[in-house]
Amino acid sequence: MDRTVSIISKNFKKYNIESIDEYLSLGGFKALEKAFDLGPKGIINELNASGLRGRGGAAYPTGKKWEQASRVPGHRKVIICNADEGEPATFKDRYLLQYDPYKVIEGMIIAAITFNANEGYIYIREEYKYLHDKFRRAIQLSKEKGFLGENILNNGFNFDITVFSGAGAYVCGESTALIESMEGKSGRPRLKLNRTSEKGLYQLPTLANNVETLAAVTSILYTGGEEYGKYGTPSSRGTKLISLCGNVNRPGAYEVPFGVTLREIVYDIGGGIKEGKALKFLQLGGASGAIVPPSLLDLKYCYEELGNKGIDIGSGAVLVADETNRVVDFLKSVQDFFLHESCGKCTPCREGNRQITKILNRFVTGEGSVEDLKTIERFSNVMKYASFCGLGKTAPTALLSAIEHFPIEFYQQIHRVRKTS
Ligand SMILES: Cc1cc2nc3c(=O)[nH]c(=O)nc-3n(C[C@H](O)[C@H](O)[C@H](O)COP(=O)(O)O)c2cc1C
Ligand code: SF4
Repeated sequence: MDRTVSIISKNFKKYNIESIDEYLSLGGFKALEKAFDLGPKGIINELNASGLRGRGGAAYPTGKKWEQASRVPGHRKVIICNADEGEPATFKDRYLLQYDPYKVIEGMIIAAITFNANEGYIYIREEYKYLHDKFRRAIQLSKEKGFLGENILNNGFNFDITVFSGAGAYVCGESTALIESMEGKSGRPRLKLNRTSEKGLYQLPTLANNVETLAAVTSILYTGGEEYGKYGTPSSRGTKLISLCGNVNRPGAYEVPFGVTLREIVYDIGGGIKEGKALKFLQLGGASGAIVPPSLLDLKYCYEELGNKGIDIGSGAVLVADETNRVVDFLKSVQDFFLHESCGKCTPCREGNRQITKILNRFVTGEGSVEDLKTIERFSNVMKYASFCGLGKTAPTALLSAIEHFPIEFYQQIHRVRKTS
């Protein structure tokens, strides 16, 4: 049974992005026309009806975020599309940029109408350099057709988009660090004294959203909020793009309705584990996400059912690891990532990552101790509660969930020392 759906991903590989006419023939920019008719309030009503939540990781309701933002006064306002996508195992935003850039552009213009902004930026990670010019071309073609620039579709509204290249730091996906880096400062999160919607880029009112969120806005206006909201579960409505990867037969970006089970994702959509091997664990939401054992495969992929088990959907990554993977080795690679990406601004994350890496190395080589296990749990909890931003708060998630579900893998690495000493 095919458990995928085709709403946000409807146009993937269906048209040549060099041709805006092909996008138009698929109903492109119809959502924008509707947005002008609806106006800001009508757009927000559609988003509220759809139940859309931000797809950048925090899952804040988009209708509510835009409603709050639309009340912020200001003559010069900014829209930012967050295409940093630095979360390991996550590539669903890349699919949107690569196969349907106009849908993202359309979503940005709809955001601009709602927020009354005339300036837009898309912050694309450096590693997607090959997409920068393609996106610039899509902007140019949209401008030539009157969808961007001055007096858009004769509605007296002006809006333009500039491509901004990130420099490859994971923390720059965090919206305030992203803004700092756009201002030419080092990419470190800001103390949030004000909302970004009030004081963001250059202290201007700024509305920042994820690529998938903005593409979903276009699809929602096109199909109607109620209609989109019919997919999913009562409290996780709609659909989600997932990045399925690892030891699975059919990796790729797929759109699923919320409520599909993890088992369906791995075995029906992903075609099961490569070479018929057994599943060892999943990691959901990228490096900052939890390790999920096979016993939880029948959980529904939705915010509430996973949330009840302390698992976040996050960026939508679903990484599959087969029986040949050792949990401690996997955690070591996750830990190396966070050690490298910690920006160093706050002590819990800077020092916590350093110390946890040292201790984890001992488990990898079979030199761990019971005391070590207690220490990494203690340090992890300090990081979780005392780190300055989401990077440090979520860095120990995989480790803590692995200790919960796979304690034996740690104890085996202690016993080996006893045997040999
Ligand atoms: C360390 C870190 C990295 C992040 N990376 C991204 C990212 O690559 N893309 C993204 O859209 N949001 C990312 N976020 C979340 C953003 O801060 C922000 O919540 C999101 O872009 C808001 O958009 P949304 O409401 O559409 O989800 C990251 C957050 C943290 C803490
Ligand atoms: S939690 Fe880590 S990434 Fe975030 S501010 Fe602190 S040191 Fe930087």
